[in-house]
Amino acid sequence: MRYFLTLYILAIVAFVGVAGFRGGLSRKPPIEVFPDMDRQMKLRPQEANRFFGNHRSSQLHVDGTIARGAPYKDIPVNTGRQSGSTNWVEVNPVPFSEALMERGRQRYDIYCQPCHGAAGDGKGITTKYGMIAVANFHDPRLVSMTDGEIFNTITHGKNLMGPYGANIKIHDRWAIIAYLRALQRSRLSTMEDVPEPQKAALQQ
Ligand code: HEC
Repeated sequence: MRYFLTLYILAIVAFVGVAGFRGGLSRKPPIEVFPDMDRQMKLRPQEANRFFGNHRSSQLHVDGTIARGAPYKDIPVNTGRQSGSTNWVEVNPVPFSEALMERGRQRYDIYCQPCHGAAGDGKGITTKYGMIAVANFHDPRLVSMTDGEIFNTITHGKNLMGPYGANIKIHDRWAIIAYLRALQRSRLSTMEDVPEPQKAALQQ
């Protein structure tokens, strides 16, 4: 019993000795069991630093970078709408070129063709696996739809179609639209579009 009491008192003294001074003020550095990230190699903002040629620790951002979450400039190419209004732009704001078309064909085949089909008739491979009611681009409603609204559909999705804004860059979205128009045009040609030499053969 005596031993027990001695040990008991010693234990209390040891416990109070270690734990009792937690939170107490002292000029000595604390005992650090886990330093976590108290001290680290880092550059403080606005501090001089000799690593970079311009001796700044905070580097200026690279030209053309946009801060994450920064608002888009309200211009047609970013929104598909006329600046300062909610009206769609009628025509693709990106200048048309063969390279744009080629890019559009390639991106269309990657991102749209699985559902909308290579010919844009809404008969992509996914329709065999349960994707229902995929829009047919040759539907007169979609033929007369403005480029801006299609841009918006790619960016934000519509009804059953999911958004692709996060996957497809802005320029590529417009390229896809240029190609989509070509797909539509391929089924809208008239006799006027047939070159003279072939006309006779067709009319027979
Ligand atoms: C996963 C399948 C899928 C993919 C991929 C897909 N779409 Fe769609 N899309 C749909 C479906 C389904 C609809 C019909 C939506 C509805 O009306 O419910 C649709 C509708 C549309 C419409 C018509 C919207 C309207 O106003 O009726 C356009 C335009 C369109 N898609 C363009 C595209 C383009 C361009 C791409 C490629 C960037 C694309 N889609 C990729 C499934 C898809």
